[in-house]
Amino acid sequence: MKALHVQNLTKQFGDLTAVNGVNFFVEYGEVFGFLGPNGAGKTTTINMLIGLARMTAGTISVMGHSYPDALKMAQREIGVVPDESNLYDEMSGLENLTFCASLYGIPRKDSEPRALDLLHQFDLHDVKDKAFKAYSKGMKRKLTIAAALIHKPSLLFLDEPTSGIDVASARQIRYELKELNQNGTTIFLTTHYIEEADRLCDRIAFIVAGDIVRTGTVTELMQYHESEQSVEFTLDQPLGDLSSIQEAFPQTAIEKAGERSLRIRSVQSVDLLPFMRYFDHVGLQVYEARILRPSLEDVFVNVTGIEAEKMKNNQRGAHR
Ligand SMILES: Nc1ncnc2c1ncn2[C@@H]1O[C@H](COP(=O)(O)OP(=O)(O)OP(=O)(O)O)[C@@H](O)[C@H]1O
Ligand SMILES: [Mg+2]
Repeated sequence: MKALHVQNLTKQFGDLTAVNGVNFFVEYGEVFGFLGPNGAGKTTTINMLIGLARMTAGTISVMGHSYPDALKMAQREIGVVPDESNLYDEMSGLENLTFCASLYGIPRKDSEPRALDLLHQFDLHDVKDKAFKAYSKGMKRKLTIAAALIHKPSLLFLDEPTSGIDVASARQIRYELKELNQNGTTIFLTTHYIEEADRLCDRIAFIVAGDIVRTGTVTELMQYHESEQSVEFTLDQPLGDLSSIQEAFPQTAIEKAGERSLRIRSVQSVDLLPFMRYFDHVGLQVYEARILRPSLEDVFVNVTGIEAEKMKNNQRGAHR
């Protein structure tokens, strides 16, 4: 049994297909991430998974409970961190947490120590009695996560957990999510930060315009990309014209990478030895030969055709 099993999940808003028949699963104990740009369908998907939005078609099974019949049962076992906080402005941090606990029927005598623990864990103990509205963005996000954990869910959903907050809070959130996962919580999150997906997720789905265009572990996603290989040579002298070396190795694409370095790209793996012989033959010394590993960013750009810069400039809620 999977923690989450989704088949042919579709959401139509009038003529617009926001989520286009996606299929994926999340194993118990995994951190699974949806990585995609603005408007890709991340929030729409999460909203269907947590029972907040009705699906147009498809099936969702959460820890063996199928929607829509077992929605209530599944909801007791899941925690939700929405992209916009769902907490109360006028209540203090502590009051917000104990209020959330009461929604799960947790009695005050149990909820208060649990809430205080969470406030400590997220470094919010000093501001526990301040009104939520007085919190910084980072503090708000941390309290929203703490609130989602109050009933110790075994599956946690987070929609862009570190988007639009300060670097220190984002780091702390990533750290806490790792900790939670190590202690057994399964995590489904969305992000438009390639780095974040890389650091946090065991497996990633690239989602673009309602479609999952690729799914895999970071290693698997890299392997696919590694069918194209790059090697960079640094030499002792500046290179002259590249046409003769290009002629000698017609199966590769050769370009200047610096004054004394050149990059060789090939669809097959690059055999270094013939190049070393060539350089020796023309009287050039090789200082360094380096196989260039692609980054997840390269893979993402390659697979989706979306520029990495565009993802970085992505703002929450800024729909094109
Ligand atoms: N309630 C709605 N009514 C109509 N269209 C909607 C609605 N909610 C979302 N959409 C559209 O569905 C598509 C997917 O939106 P969604 O919010 O799921 O994207 P997202 O991946 O979460 O983007 P972001 O990174 O900006 O949060 C977009 O084209 C959006 O405009
Ligand atoms: Mg969204």
